[in-house]
Amino acid sequence: MDHDCHRIPVKAQLATQPLGIAGIVTAARRNVLEIIPELATRQPMVSGKVFRRWHMVMDPDGLRHILRDRVDDYPKSEVAKGVVRPAIGNSLFVAEGSDWLRQRRTAAGAFTSRAIRRIGPVMTAAAERLVSRVKSAAPATLDMCEEFTAATFEVISDVTFGDGVGMQRDLVNRAISSYLAGAARASVLDIIGAPAWIPRLRTLVTDPAVRDMKRIAEQVIAQRAANSENDGDDLHSLLANGLDPETGRPMTRTELRNNLLTFIVAGHETTTLALTWSLYLLAFDQQIQDQARREVRTMISSGRLSAADISRLPTIRQIVLESMRLYPPAALLLRTSRVQDEICGREVRPGDMMMLPIYALHRNICYWDNPDGFEPQRFADSKTANSPAYLPFGAGPRACIGSGFAMQEAIILLAALIRDLHFMLAPGQQPEPVMVLTLRPRKGIRFNVAPLG
Ligand code: HEM
Repeated sequence: MDHDCHRIPVKAQLATQPLGIAGIVTAARRNVLEIIPELATRQPMVSGKVFRRWHMVMDPDGLRHILRDRVDDYPKSEVAKGVVRPAIGNSLFVAEGSDWLRQRRTAAGAFTSRAIRRIGPVMTAAAERLVSRVKSAAPATLDMCEEFTAATFEVISDVTFGDGVGMQRDLVNRAISSYLAGAARASVLDIIGAPAWIPRLRTLVTDPAVRDMKRIAEQVIAQRAANSENDGDDLHSLLANGLDPETGRPMTRTELRNNLLTFIVAGHETTTLALTWSLYLLAFDQQIQDQARREVRTMISSGRLSAADISRLPTIRQIVLESMRLYPPAALLLRTSRVQDEICGREVRPGDMMMLPIYALHRNICYWDNPDGFEPQRFADSKTANSPAYLPFGAGPRACIGSGFAMQEAIILLAALIRDLHFMLAPGQQPEPVMVLTLRPRKGIRFNVAPLG
């Protein structure tokens, strides 16, 4: 082969030797991925003790045990929930037990494949605005992470708040970014279980921006309820009208607010990153970019790209899936053991921290051929995306409720962009994958963008 497949796209520097306390603290502050031992890409499970006992589980049976079969014995870690609770309250993402189950059942109707198809036009419109913004700037060097952030925010704020929020939309966007940046800084030491006496870079206080964000959400909810604007197809209407099939109860106003904000927080940056890394990989491998463009141009030569077109774009889907394998936006899931147990023959005690390093799972040589290579065609076989070693959206009852939404959006946006524009990495671009809540390129990624005829 004379093309790029023998080259390796950027990857994180995992720990090649055990890190002491000082090493862990320094590494975690720099990049949480650096606390993952390289061994986690070669073994099914790695255990240790730094501040407290921890286990990293990559073994598919072990993951199934934690995420699917024994969910109640392995709740989400308090640390992970504490980071987001001030902004999104006890929403679907945070709640446990019967409170979680009731919210999940009530929200399910808003995420059926039919419901997601119906919000396709919002995604198509955002894709068209994105393409025209980028086209009017091209030829140019652009940070596409910023462009995707704007486009995915348009989509999620449209379907949660509607277009009535106008100027307030920017305020919500700024509030969320500022909150997440603070939360990320405050959380890294908590993620590794460091005791309270180690100074945090910033203590998490309730950000005034978060108060604004909640106030705006409440105004929108009240306004839409008063004006009977809730009979549409968007997430807001479906959630406001959704009833728990077991109890027949709708969500309370506070639950509605918390969940709408959750969808914005959980769905905006993750989808941006799936897109940014996909485009990085296409710029990295020009041959695959050409092949993907040919597919889009053959299938949908001109005009609007809609949700109905997605089934005709298998290569684009494979690229998005492969990008989330190499750079899973949610690269590390955290659980706490509540029980005495055994996983992969190892003792697990109550209180042990269970780290599920999706980044290392997706590059583990026990489960993947050429794990660091960019080979989207491996997803041509649908078994790959359903494999227990591929978990970009988690697994079991707490798996991502928005996965269909995210895939539809990512495919529409990526296909629309590459149909009309050509992307190369700007000279010297060697993005560094860094985990701060999500797996991002440390300084964004700059592309040389050129229009195509
Ligand atoms: C590429 C984009 C996305 C990725 C990679 C992603 C990933 C994930 C993962 C891994 C989880 C499970 C977390 C855990 O088990 O600890 C999760 C949960 C969740 N996600 Fe997503 N997500 C994405 C997009 C979205 C979107 C678009 C929405 C909503 C519109 C959303 C809403 C949620 C919610 C509400 C949960 C919590 C579900 C529960 O606990 O019942 N996500 N996501």
